[in-house]
Amino acid sequence: MHMVDLQAFILDLDGVVTDTAEYHFRAWKRLADEEGVPFTREDNEQLRGVSRRRSLEILLGEHLSRYEEAQLLEMMARKNGYYQEFLGQITEDDLLPGARALIDTLKERGIKVAIGSASRNTQLVLDRLGITQIFDAIADGHCAARAKPAPDVFVWAAGRLDIYAQHCAVVEDAQAGVQAALAGGMVVVGVGPEERVGEAHFCYATTADIDLDEILTATAAGDV
Ligand code: G6P
Ligand code: MG
Repeated sequence: MHMVDLQAFILDLDGVVTDTAEYHFRAWKRLADEEGVPFTREDNEQLRGVSRRRSLEILLGEHLSRYEEAQLLEMMARKNGYYQEFLGQITEDDLLPGARALIDTLKERGIKVAIGSASRNTQLVLDRLGITQIFDAIADGHCAARAKPAPDVFVWAAGRLDIYAQHCAVVEDAQAGVQAALAGGMVVVGVGPEERVGEAHFCYATTADIDLDEILTATAAGDV
């Protein structure tokens, strides 16, 4: 990659800033039980970063053809109701370790910070976490026509920030998200295991492990 002057970081929400995967799992599990469809914690890993509709399609698998569109819509709404019940329990304590420090350090250095999430509950989650005000832009599941792995949500965030995609870094914990950011021509920082985020330019185990100096130095040198 050529030399990059990073001017913005776009953070995925679920799995980077907060860990809502467990709540998504419990809500999908309740729906799956009601529908008599097997669904395990392991199956839930496939839903990471994936849109609500696609999640339902994956969950139903071979049973998908049994359902009409109206039933699919009803199930998505039902799951979301269960999920939102859990969101009521979220507080500032649910920020992932290192998330707030990363955001604060970026801002201190004059780098813009945005959210780029597939979730249509983004605003609700950020409000519960008490951090809505600190972002320069918030792109969520309402902003993008196509879900990740299409780059739409990140491109929308970059446009909102008025910064070229090439000058943006994206932090992601999901394979679909890493692919979306690569497709958008952005620098990609993966958090999580190699098999999920291995295609990213930089990989760290967790948000707390992100080495900002390493990223800024390497990209500035064109050493990515
Ligand atoms: C995030 C999560 C996914 C979730 C998606 C849609 O990307 O990682 O697990 O399915 O958002 O969330 P929503 O809140 O709109 O159902
Ligand atoms: Mg995520």
